[in-house]
Amino acid sequence: MQLPDENIEYQFSRLLAQPHEAWTPLAELQHQHFLPPEKVDEVKQWVTSVRGQVVAERELQNPPQKMRPLQPGFIDLPQKMLDSYKRKLDASDLGKVLRRAQQLRDTVDRVVVLGIGGSYLASKAIFGALCHSHHNELPAKLRMGKPRIYFEGNDLDNDALQDLFELLENTCVDPDIIEERWGVVVASKSGSTLETAATYRAVRGEARKFYGHKNEMLRKVIVPITGKSSKLRDLCLADGFPDDDILTIPDDVGGRFSVFTAVGLLPAAVMGLDVRAMLLGAATMTRRFIEEPFDRNPVLQFATINHLMTERGKTTRVLTSWSRKLEAVGWWYDQLLSESLSKNGRGPTPITTVGTRDLHSRGQQHQDGTRDKLINNLVVKQIKHPPVMVGMSERNEDDLNQFSRKGLPDILEAAIKNTNEAYAEAARPTADITLPMISEHTIGQLLQMLMLATVVEGRLSGTNPYGQPGVEAYKNNMIRALKATPNLPKGEVRDQAKGV
Ligand code: PA5
Repeated sequence: MQLPDENIEYQFSRLLAQPHEAWTPLAELQHQHFLPPEKVDEVKQWVTSVRGQVVAERELQNPPQKMRPLQPGFIDLPQKMLDSYKRKLDASDLGKVLRRAQQLRDTVDRVVVLGIGGSYLASKAIFGALCHSHHNELPAKLRMGKPRIYFEGNDLDNDALQDLFELLENTCVDPDIIEERWGVVVASKSGSTLETAATYRAVRGEARKFYGHKNEMLRKVIVPITGKSSKLRDLCLADGFPDDDILTIPDDVGGRFSVFTAVGLLPAAVMGLDVRAMLLGAATMTRRFIEEPFDRNPVLQFATINHLMTERGKTTRVLTSWSRKLEAVGWWYDQLLSESLSKNGRGPTPITTVGTRDLHSRGQQHQDGTRDKLINNLVVKQIKHPPVMVGMSERNEDDLNQFSRKGLPDILEAAIKNTNEAYAEAARPTADITLPMISEHTIGQLLQMLMLATVVEGRLSGTNPYGQPGVEAYKNNMIRALKATPNLPKGEVRDQAKGV
């Protein structure tokens, strides 16, 4: 596989406080809100030793109680997946993912992806970044065998789910025609998350109505992805799925770190994406993390700068994507950061924004509001399509002829540069994650970079990045409350398959 030189980088020089010859109000503000370069130099050695600790954690078979939970499996997973595919082909985990994805693509024209948290946001981020912006609306020929994709099971929105059922009912009438067949990917590591489990029960019921109760087709069009032992696995085994057709999320990979397991890879392969390039990008990032010195290591840089800025009171961490296509990567990072570092009353608050859209909503706050923010820009260097030009107009009522030879990318470039300058002039710290382009390879790098940096940041701040004990409270309360109320529905019940 030939890949262009397309490393992603982190640039943070704009938020370093530069020495000023004379005192000025801006120099004073920058002194307060930017980072002194000496501070970064001072911690390089410490950060490098933390890297050593994170790398060593991969080998711990039986970690001491105080280190638990420990789930570093995601670090080496991309390279391991590629290596075992090379050796075992179809019999490897990646081989199975590719086989099940191909089977689904050959069988159906619509796929409903069920999952929540890490079992949803990864595939949502990949879909947003790498598929056509209007994928589902494209005629089949332009989609080139890639099914339409829908996401469900990530909330409890009754009416939204009924809308999907209505769509399926009206567009999928004959199960003998591929264009009218639909399938399901259900991802849940625990296999017992109520949102996904309840939605799967309903979706499975719809599938049974459509394909017939015992139809062999059901096992072809439903792809379960779950942990080694889970209620979802039990259910699927009871439904007659061969164990080999149930894709497994390894124990040592946590939910929000599971993008390079079948959770992210299977939907990506169904979408027709090059999953090997994605894994290669992720494996490259792991290698850079382990081998490169601080100055060439975007993981260590990102973790350090973000940690130091949080310590300096910049506790709101804004990820501003200057490409709308990366917005869902921001939502994925929101979860990664929140669940990994928000523990024991500490941790930064993530926010995702899209430039320039949100300059017209949050821009005021970023320029002029509370000084609690660090903005990380996500900047894509190379566009995929030819530029949309402003062009000439005969009467020039809108006065845009002065920009007639400029395109949207030129205007965007000016927006990025000048927004950052305006922030710097108000001592508002910003830094850039730069992607040469949006591709499977760069998205693989980016997601792995953010996962690794989050773990390093956790170790720097003394917070265990693995586990999410805080999420259990609402789940327990909800189940207790549901058990305490009569088992009766609210509202009129839709005609659902009985006893599914
Ligand atoms: O990071 C995590 O482990 C969680 O956020 C999970 O991804 C989320 O709760 C969904 O869990 P599951 O995949 O078990 O349904």
